[in-house]
Parts: sequence; structure tokens; C-alpha cells
Amino acid sequence: MTAELITGIAELTTQAAESSHDSHDDNRLADAALVIENGRIAWIGPAADAPAADSEVNVHGRAVLPGWVDTHTHLVFAGDRAAEFEARMAGQRYAAGGIATTVAATRAASEADLVANARRLRREAAASGTTFLETKTGYGLDLATELRGARAAAEVADVVTFLGAHLVPPGIDRRDYLDLVTGPMLQAVAPHVDFIDAFCDTGAFDVDECREVLLAGRAAGLGLRLHGNQLGAGGGVRLAVELGCASVDHCNHLDDADVDALAGSDTVATLLPACDLSTRQPFPPARRLLDAGAHIALASNCNPGTSYTTSMPFCVATAVLQMGLTVREAVWAATRGAARAVGREHGPDAVGSLRIGGRADLQVLDAPSVAHLAYRPGVPLCVATWTEGVRADPHASRDLST
Ligand code: NIG
Repeated sequence: MTAELITGIAELTTQAAESSHDSHDDNRLADAALVIENGRIAWIGPAADAPAADSEVNVHGRAVLPGWVDTHTHLVFAGDRAAEFEARMAGQRYAAGGIATTVAATRAASEADLVANARRLRREAAASGTTFLETKTGYGLDLATELRGARAAAEVADVVTFLGAHLVPPGIDRRDYLDLVTGPMLQAVAPHVDFIDAFCDTGAFDVDECREVLLAGRAAGLGLRLHGNQLGAGGGVRLAVELGCASVDHCNHLDDADVDALAGSDTVATLLPACDLSTRQPFPPARRLLDAGAHIALASNCNPGTSYTTSMPFCVATAVLQMGLTVREAVWAATRGAARAVGREHGPDAVGSLRIGGRADLQVLDAPSVAHLAYRPGVPLCVATWTEGVRADPHASRDLST
């Protein structure tokens, strides 16, 4: 058992209090230190009171906070869609049908290639401070490729979601495809996945189809999440609340009833600001959701179609600069709020917060406070991470010694 002391922390964001509210100073300690032992946090307190340890890292006045919890990514794919992106920036609208381009490339790729590409993106995410990550299937859309995708996802991610109901692929009858997704495909992938998801939107699946898919997943023992209200208003959010989904993701087009439904539920609204920029969609009403009392999370939605970034700091900065969140609210939504969206806010395997006995998943910023995440947008501030107590230095040239 070796203990590692991290000291010299100008600002330690713990997210240990029960709310992100700005008045909660319990979530933020000045001049702090912490001790990591066996991958867990063994001690947190003022640097002046820090106990002796086997080794010590002085971060010399930098900020420390939980590693990012990215709960919405689609890392299992092949190819890219740069041409589609460029056309969109020249005025073309995003449509769900673009998914079929990535499906064709993914079906042609080997499982080893899918794992390698997903690992590359996971490494990229880790370099900007992500220490816990969800990813999905959904670019296979036939039994063999969805199964390859589920296995690949399970090798690379901490939480895996089955998204067979991403699009009805070309060449198959709609009813036959739903029977496949809720029958043999679900049975094949179930041992490799934690959640089931469906794309409830214009050009993808309607509310009744999504209900059928999610209920089949629940019967197979999976948790529920939903893509909803991305491209237009509709019943996605209300379906997610009705079924008690852990999360409903996107939420760009919400009416008052949607906001009220979310505010009165445990379902997290997972907002995806990088996707909104890349598809030129209006941002979701983040401020309204929070003021109404809804739970929100922020995620990257890394995928080749609508959001080809792994950068959670970019999402946090955008949420602050464009969506009206305070810095503390955005950081909460990308850490502890996100943990709630995958059912990992509490318990021994909780992530997104720094608590004695909890997982030592943390990051060091090359800045004295988390405000710099939005104050210095686009600057790669993460200089070190610990994931279950294991240190990585994404930018080795910027060490912690001064
Ligand atoms: O979350 N909205 C649905 N699925 C993905 C994008 C899919 C694609 O266009 O490749 C998303 O944005």
C-alpha cells in the first residue's frame, strides 16, 4: 500500500456537496491537498494539515478537479464525414440519413480496426481530462456489425450503450428491422452492454417505436437512455421521463411541458454543445432547465457526423460562453451531473466527485482555478490526470515542477 500526496492545490473542486449551486463553497477548497491510496482518495484537507505519504507531487498553485465524465460518445465507427461537414458549413442542413454513410464504412471495417480507432479517440479524450467515458454501438445496424461494435465498445469504454435503433438501414423493411433490434440483435449484444438507447427524432424513429425498443431493452436487464428533441419538437423527452430513462440527450427543442417534465423527474437532460455548433442547431435552454430544477449533464457526443471532438473543456467553455451557465454549473454538469446520467453518482463506484473512499479520478489544470476553462477557451489546460490512482501526463513538456 503506497500513499501519494498531491499538495500545493490552489483550488480543489470536490463536487462532494449535494448541489452545484454557486453558494455551495463545500465543493471548493483553497490551499488544499489530497492523498491517493490504492486508487482511492484516502484524505482531503488543508495543505497545512496534510499527512505524511510515500511520495509527494506538488502542483504549485494549480487547480485540481474530478476528471471529466463523458456520457455521450459514438466512438465505434470507421471513416469520417468531413465532406458532409464542409457542405453543412456552406449551408446544407443536417439530416439523420447521413448516419448511413458511416454505417457503410463501419460494416467494411474489422473489429481490430474499430477497436484501434475507438482507442485513439479515448486517448485523445484522456489528454483533455476525461477519466470516465460512455460509448455506443449504432453504426453497424446489422446483427454481425452491432455485435462487433458492442465488443469493441466494451474494450474501450467504461459504460456501453446499444443503439441498434439509430436509423432503419437501407435495404430492410422498417417492421422487420424493429423485430431484429428488439429480438436477435438485442439478445446478441446484451452481454456486452449496460444501456439501450434509441434515436427519437425526425427521420429516425417515432415515439411508439422508441418505446418498444426501450421496453425490450428493459426486459433484457438494460438501463435506458434516449436521443430526443435534437432536430425538432416531439415526444422524445416526455417518453424518456415516462419510462424513467437515466438520461435524455440533445434536448434542443423543448416546450414548457418538456421542461416541467424534466424538472419533476430524475431523468438527466444531457446537453451536447459541440454538436449544436457543428450542426448549427439552436442551443438547448440550459438556463431554463436549471432554473426549473432539472438535472443536466454536458457531454462531447464525439462522432464523425455531428460532433467530431473529444474535448470536454470545449463543451464546458461553450456552455458558459454561449448557453448561460456559470462556470461552476458547467463544471458540475461535466463531472457529477454527468455521473448521475449513467447511474454512477453514488456508491462505491461513483465517479465525477472527489470524496474520501471514492475513486481517485482527477485532473490538474495549468491554471489556478476552474474559471480559466471558460476564461481561456481553446487552451489545452489539462496537464495531468489520475484515473483510479494511475497518473498520466498528456502534455509531458508542461511538467508540474514549477
Ligand atoms: O448523437 N443524433 C443521432 N446520432 C448522432 C449523430 C449521428 C450521425 O450523424 O452520425 C448524434 O448526434
